[in-house]
Amino acid sequence: MNGDRRASVGFTFAGRAVEARAGDTVAMALWRLGERTLRHSSRDGAPRAVFCNMGVCYECLCRVDGAVVRACTTLVQDGMRVEPGGRP
Ligand code: FES
Repeated sequence: MNGDRRASVGFTFAGRAVEARAGDTVAMALWRLGERTLRHSSRDGAPRAVFCNMGVCYECLCRVDGAVVRACTTLVQDGMRVEPGGRP
């Protein structure tokens, strides 16, 4: 990753093995991978993505090891299982 010397962290997103850098949030790790849709609206099914990136809007809800979390405030960990979705 272009001069980034941080340790590599492996996790899965929607069952696919992916890689991030230690210290990244789940949101930023997925953004770097080109993953923009973290969930779909329960109201109209529209795709939702990172919006505020500071834990305020709840647009980035996803599931990490079965728990609903905000991707923008959750640090990626080695072996983590991340799934799209979560409550609105
Ligand atoms: S993007 Fe707003 S809470 Fe995560």
